Amino acid sequence: MAASRRCAAVPAATLALVAALLMSAPAAAEVAAAGRYPPLAPGLSFDHYKKSCPKAESIVKDFLKAAIRQNVGLAAALIRLHFHDCFVQGCDASILLDSTPTEKSEQEAGPNLTLRPAAFKAINDIRDHLEKACGRVVSCADIVALAARDSVQLGGGPAYRVPLGRRDSLKPASQDTVNGALPAPTSKVTTLLGALSKINLDATDLVALSGGHTVGIAHCSSFENRLFPTQDATMNQRFAGHLKLTCPVVGTVNTTVNDIRTPNTFDNKYYVDLLNREGLFTSDQDLFTDGRTRPIVENFARSQKAFFEQFIFSYVKMGQIQVLTGSQGQIRANCSARNAGSNDDLPWSVVESVVDAAESLVL
Ligand code: HEM
Ligand SMILES: *[C@@H]1O[C@H](CO)[C@@H](O)[C@H](O)[C@H]1NC(C)=O
Ligand SMILES: *[C@@H]1O[C@H](CO)[C@@H](O)[C@H](O)[C@H]1NC(C)=O
Ligand SMILES: *[C@@H]1O[C@H](CO)[C@@H](O)[C@H](O)[C@H]1NC(C)=O
Repeated sequence: MAASRRCAAVPAATLALVAALLMSAPAAAEVAAAGRYPPLAPGLSFDHYKKSCPKAESIVKDFLKAAIRQNVGLAAALIRLHFHDCFVQGCDASILLDSTPTEKSEQEAGPNLTLRPAAFKAINDIRDHLEKACGRVVSCADIVALAARDSVQLGGGPAYRVPLGRRDSLKPASQDTVNGALPAPTSKVTTLLGALSKINLDATDLVALSGGHTVGIAHCSSFENRLFPTQDATMNQRFAGHLKLTCPVVGTVNTTVNDIRTPNTFDNKYYVDLLNREGLFTSDQDLFTDGRTRPIVENFARSQKAFFEQFIFSYVKMGQIQVLTGSQGQIRANCSARNAGSNDDLPWSVVESVVDAAESLVL
């Protein structure tokens, strides 16, 4: 795992250059989404579909406006889906692949912890709309990234631009890769930092990305370690009492909201929760307990603007992990399955070299 996620450092000069280019790009004005962006991965650009599918972004947004109005939880599900896709084998839509007789889906691995079926359905529905408008040109991996972006904004979060041009993987990641890549909610900061450093994400990225827990829900199984057999001393007493109403005994199948203050709004209240020792998972609350991340939590709790700016930077950075571009991978005709013809006969060594090539492009 560690070796497969090597990342080159980015010189400050490149950062400055990219920032200058971004500021002069007309697209920035178009969507009124200012902000600080990481350098773009080679092969990705903001206008990838400008000619081939000019309405791609508005098609995704129009679909989600209606779908999220019907089901607000869909936004949280899509924000999490992009995270799971990118952390496991890169942002290549491998998370979307259904199991086949020879390959088990990533969705069946332990830490999938209840990715919502509605999210998978939304991605396929969006893909169908895009195919009708433009033919098969927009990748499932790009749809996942765009859907996550729109979910952030529709939930009250910042608007931002998404680098596009990802291609879809030919295979799901192995169960071991999934289990190794996604940290457990029982993890403390040391473990989290270790996991993120393998994919070139740092403490600031960790705190900003964990802010995704400003929306959505979790099952008792994800945090009952903090209630039973003994209560986690870092947890607010009243909050613990409140959680025990939802999860009265070990093994209760029930859910609660991630952010007790504003459960469906993408804002900085998650950090206010942490200050009040009302974080849900160990992996949330330890961000406040640990001195390395505490000042970052405090900053985001004070300033929603600071959180939004850093979230855009870190989520766009995450969205470029180990992407397939150019002629690598494929554009799927069905986000849940590899295209017919690109089957197991394809020598595995070819797939490997494709992935290796992509790795050298990681930021
Ligand atoms: C840092 C490590 C992380 C850990 C340990 C973690 C863990 C979890 C767990 C255990 C759940 C609840 C699953 C369940 O019980 O149903 C969850 C939900 C969620 N996570 Fe994370 N997560 C992490 C990072 C992220 C990131 C980076 C994002 C996105 C920026 C994110 C967004 C979400 C969202 C939106 C939900 C709610 C999903 C829904 O309502 O369907 N998480 N996370
Ligand atoms: C997630 O993993 C669990 C445990 O392996 C499995 O029972 C469950 O069906 C999986 N969820 C999905 C959506 O595949
Ligand atoms: C599930 O949670 C709800 C509200 O949080 C609670 O009223 C209900 O009793 C819980 N169910 C179980 C089986 O504990
Ligand atoms: C897409 O692929 C999945 C998995 O093979 C399959 O179950 C589903 O029916 C396919 N959808 C369409 C529209 O063909």
